[in-house]
Amino acid sequence: MKKLMAANWKMFKTWDEARATAQELVDLAAAKLPGDREVLVFPQFTALKGVADVFQGIDGFSVGGQDYYIKEEGAYTGEISPKMLESVGAVYGLTGHSERRHVLGEDDEYIGAKTSYGLESGLKVVFCIGEKIEDRKAGRVEEVLEHQIRVGLKNVPINIDPENLSIAYEPVWAIGTGEVAGPEEILEAHAFTRKILISIFGEKANEMRVLYGGSVKPANCAEIIALDNVDGVLVGGASLEGESFSQIVLA
Ligand code: 13P
Repeated sequence: MKKLMAANWKMFKTWDEARATAQELVDLAAAKLPGDREVLVFPQFTALKGVADVFQGIDGFSVGGQDYYIKEEGAYTGEISPKMLESVGAVYGLTGHSERRHVLGEDDEYIGAKTSYGLESGLKVVFCIGEKIEDRKAGRVEEVLEHQIRVGLKNVPINIDPENLSIAYEPVWAIGTGEVAGPEEILEAHAFTRKILISIFGEKANEMRVLYGGSVKPANCAEIIALDNVDGVLVGGASLEGESFSQIVLA
């Protein structure tokens, strides 16, 4: 199973900026990328094709859409479909990100519909989960994660190819705060996530990647990626510069 080193560029970068960062990343990391690592960038929609073109023909580099709607096409002003993302080179889609849950108001049911629709439409999906600080303080981490996983994945067919579904554990309190979760917290949440995945999908859930996200930096990535059940990272702020994301990718 290759480790998935993913960048979420959120609502940052124009076309030119995105292409320049993508090129810098390729220049710094492509030749040295270990065979057991995969690099994925989620640019925003307007830069997706630009970044896909930079990555064209480079082994182990791909792009994904940060969001999509649950229809192929139609009168849904402002929305975009998996098919449209695929037409400009997207291989992956992202669902359940904390900013979509807590800023844009998406609920578990809708995230679940999106996750299964993306998979059905041929995207590989990175499905995000994570508790808020008040859940952690109240001892409700497992309850929250289990609910998010069970509802978010309830429509995913049991016979899914495990390579096509990754889960990103991103504790909300660690996103963009500089406060990275400690090794014990990551180990516990990832082991628990794996246990729930196995209860749903059986042993093949061992081949699904569970990523960690939340204040990953060049300085902490090597330690995080070496932990049990950590099969990659999903990086926000530190992925915006080619130099720092290349250090993470190669850490
Ligand atoms: P930061 O790396 O900026 O904390 O963001 C994490 C994230 O939300 C990735 O999806």
